[in-house]
Amino acid sequence: MTKPLLRVLKGEAVWPPPMWLMRQAGRYLPEYRELRQQAGDFISLCTTPRLASEVTLQPIRRYGFDAAILFSDILMLPWALGYGLAFKEGEGPVLPRLTEASQVAALDPSRVGAAIAPILETVQRTKAGLDEGTALIGFAGSPFTVACYMVEGGGSKDFARIRGMAHGDPALFGSLIDVLVDSTVEYTSAQVDAGADAIMLFDSWAGVLSPLLFARYVTEPTRRIVQALRERHPSLPIIGFPRLAGVQVGAYAAATGVDAVALDTGAELHVATGLVPGNVTTQGNLDPLALVAGGAALHAEAQGVLDAVRGRPHIFNLGHGIVPQTPPEHVAALVAQVRAA
Ligand code: CP3
Repeated sequence: MTKPLLRVLKGEAVWPPPMWLMRQAGRYLPEYRELRQQAGDFISLCTTPRLASEVTLQPIRRYGFDAAILFSDILMLPWALGYGLAFKEGEGPVLPRLTEASQVAALDPSRVGAAIAPILETVQRTKAGLDEGTALIGFAGSPFTVACYMVEGGGSKDFARIRGMAHGDPALFGSLIDVLVDSTVEYTSAQVDAGADAIMLFDSWAGVLSPLLFARYVTEPTRRIVQALRERHPSLPIIGFPRLAGVQVGAYAAATGVDAVALDTGAELHVATGLVPGNVTTQGNLDPLALVAGGAALHAEAQGVLDAVRGRPHIFNLGHGIVPQTPPEHVAALVAQVRAA
């Protein structure tokens, strides 16, 4: 196993740490903006294997990261289940608002296989375009975060609707989570069969829940997904990202059985790495806005991450996705700094 990313995911303290960046393919790259325009809308880009695989490979060619991440979106799973989805320019994703049981009953797992076929072809094409040292990460949203977009009908400032449903209608909410658990297992397992070396589960809004509901709707569904995936792919590395989980990250890592936990920007690394079991790899957690600032501020922040994780299995990354205004040359400076650590 020569890929540094897979070695670190199995617990080896590889140094300098392998690196990739969340949202490494995207609007900050001129070559992305060009292909995005060719594709038209975002869903067409995600479902056109020739373009999606090219976009996945763009940041690898530019920066030589240790991993490529499939170019797709966490909301392509509800889309594949037949739930409405549109990406509106400047507004982000727009979905129907889920309020009743009939909408959960209408989710159709029998559609998923055909719907995700182009995404699986993207995985195959991308894999063929990578050299043997670069890993390919497949992904899905975690059930809770995908449910957030379905119940809120898109993004939200306070997630009042979903928190209200989780507290107030556990039967409805639990049935939605159950459908998403099962389809997430099928979806990510198919990505592994198509060539993904590892799977990352994005739970971007995990931290908006109370601790009681975090255990029920973040940790437990993730544990079920990890267990089901391991039954099919015993040595599959899995990265969990319970964003904004704070001190719950240790219990999350221990209970779910993930190989690695991605830490958000607010996680103090000396504390967070102390909470996570010693055999669990960490990932993160440079502030994406430091990458926008560049210069001495970026250098100091990146050095802080490196100093805090030296000696433990760690994947250098951001604490959340790259933002569109990031100058590509700042990414190049960061890569040079981490590679020289
Ligand atoms: O390079 C990569 O990281 C792989 C591709 C990827 C995208 N989205 C592409 C994308 C991944 C892994 C995601 C995950 C994702 N999508 C998450 C979890 C991580 C996180 O950021 O918290 C979430 C919550 C989503 C949902 C989503 N998709 C939102 C809220 C938006 C709109 C906001 C925005 O940045 O525009 C998207 C659209 C989206 N997904 C874009 C990209 C490159 C921008 C679309 C465009 O090009 O117009």
